[in-house]
Amino acid sequence: MTADDPAIQLQAGRKLGSRYRVESLIGQGSEGAVYSVVDISTGIRRAAKIFGTHADRRGRLSTRHAQKLNRLRYCHIVLQYLHSETVRIKGRSLTALVSELCEGVPLEKFIAQQPGKRMSTFMALSLFQVLVEGLEEVHLSGEYHADVHSQNIMVQPRGVGFEIKLIDFYEWGKTTKSKQQQDILDAVRVFYEMLGGRRFYARLPDEVKYIMAGLQTKHILKRFPAMSDLSLYLSTFEWTSMT
Ligand SMILES: Nc1ncnc2c1ncn2[C@@H]1O[C@H](COP(=O)(O)OP(=O)(O)O)[C@@H](O)[C@H]1O
Ligand SMILES: [Mg+2]
Repeated sequence: MTADDPAIQLQAGRKLGSRYRVESLIGQGSEGAVYSVVDISTGIRRAAKIFGTHADRRGRLSTRHAQKLNRLRYCHIVLQYLHSETVRIKGRSLTALVSELCEGVPLEKFIAQQPGKRMSTFMALSLFQVLVEGLEEVHLSGEYHADVHSQNIMVQPRGVGFEIKLIDFYEWGKTTKSKQQQDILDAVRVFYEMLGGRRFYARLPDEVKYIMAGLQTKHILKRFPAMSDLSLYLSTFEWTSMT
């Protein structure tokens, strides 16, 4: 069941569980739908991800997601999970994962809003460093994301830098080096997307191309076998093409 299914299409103003009122649909995918909701007693806005019954047989998927987000609660880049709630929608019991409502916009949209639909080198490097340091924290706490792409990264420019939140983690069993390395490859691809992808690759500075390595898996992982290696590079590399 997806948000297209009438059972999960919720009217604004409708009550959700005992505590929330639905505001609007903010996202939908294969697992269910995400709504912004308002906590009736405090007026605080939250996000509720409602899992469809097919995707969430006996609540297993939503439980695994909640447990993973809970394990990552001290990583500041991770969306803060609050609690799960069983909600009745058209006679069915579904699970809603209630989290903080992220400010800002998905990175994909943020890139599309930039002049020429790409970020400047410095802006991209600055945002990429925040992403890499956040993922490094996730990896050092023994976890992985498994679905790093520009719709799962919420961006909020703040001061001279960026705050970002990672949403939509996947839980595919125990952490392995190859699952963490997939996050490295996916993060590098996101960086490539920030800088205009193939259209601009040839014009990028050598220091940036060193990270992307022509998007060749073997070369990227040889240079950066762990997220910490990429993080170290970003805070120490020397510019040769800029004086
Ligand atoms: N906590 C949140 N705050 C703000 N927007 C959110 C939040 N969670 C999800 N979204 C929006 O909803 C979309 C879909 O949510 P996501 O958790 O990625 O589910 P899916 O499995 O459908 O990709 C996201 O790309 C984002 O735009
Ligand atoms: Mg997503």
